Amino acid sequence: MAVNGIIEIHNLSFFRGNRAIFKDIDVSIAAGKITVIMGPSGTGKTTLLRLIGGQLQPHRGEVQLFGENIAQLNRKQLNQLRGRMGVLFQSGALFTDLTVFENVAFPLREHTQLNDMQLHDRVLLKLEAVGLRGARDLMPSHLSGGMARRVALARAVALEPEIILYDEPFAGQDPIAMAVLQRLIKDLNDEMRLTSVLVSHDIAEACAIADRIILLGEGRVLAHDTPEALQTSTDPAVRQFMHGEADGVIPFHFPAPPLAEELLCDHASVADNRGGLQ
Ligand SMILES: Nc1ncnc2c1ncn2[C@@H]1O[C@H](COP(=O)(O)OP(=O)(O)OP(=O)(O)O)[C@@H](O)[C@H]1O
Ligand SMILES: [Mg+2]
Repeated sequence: MAVNGIIEIHNLSFFRGNRAIFKDIDVSIAAGKITVIMGPSGTGKTTLLRLIGGQLQPHRGEVQLFGENIAQLNRKQLNQLRGRMGVLFQSGALFTDLTVFENVAFPLREHTQLNDMQLHDRVLLKLEAVGLRGARDLMPSHLSGGMARRVALARAVALEPEIILYDEPFAGQDPIAMAVLQRLIKDLNDEMRLTSVLVSHDIAEACAIADRIILLGEGRVLAHDTPEALQTSTDPAVRQFMHGEADGVIPFHFPAPPLAEELLCDHASVADNRGGLQ
């Protein structure tokens, strides 16, 4: 019998205008693992994370979380499910007018009935886990970029979720801050028995942290395997991405009509406009 993943995507298609971002993809993400979604910029990594988080609805196919098709849930059920899922978006923004403590306390005040003492202890434990208990009274403007990410991480795990989604958690971090965040994500995954899904476009960092890598390209899942398997893959598209070649099976260009055609067409319309002005 097939073992179902904690996140199951079946025959999913998603469009932006006429452009298919995903064409009938299937993905099964195992519980307890760190899965990294990779692929060239604009391939739909953030989009896939938003489809998993229920912020976007697929045009065809379905997304199942914990065995439930999220499209069939009502708002209350969806909110309950979201309580079991932490999210750290690409910007990872903190509330600038709240202290570090209050930022982490925020989801607890919104979604739980913890009393003041329980809330206090939970916040301090989460800040301790990211090494920032000493920064509890600081305002976000007084934090470094790496510290702000760690506070955002503490906030994302405050509700003790079972799944956590991270969009580019290491973007813009120096190597030390990046190593700290990597270790934190791994430790949190193990200690809280989380299922972590991360978006990254850095191959080295993804390979360092991932149990599984999903490589997206051309609206499809090009590969879903261990970092080792991807690094030794003979598939041309996988090789191109893993070895950082700018162009190849995966094109460098966003889809567009042929350049000559577009230049001619644009020249004609510029000439027309000039004609109109004279
Ligand atoms: N709100 C939107 N409206 C229209 N098109 C969008 C919107 N958001 C994203 N897109 C398009 O969908 C495609 C996938 O976007 P997405 O943000 O998922 O890419 P990504 O893989 O996360 O890229 P990056 O690595 O640059 O973050 C892109 O081509 C983008 O132009
Ligand atoms: Mg993105």
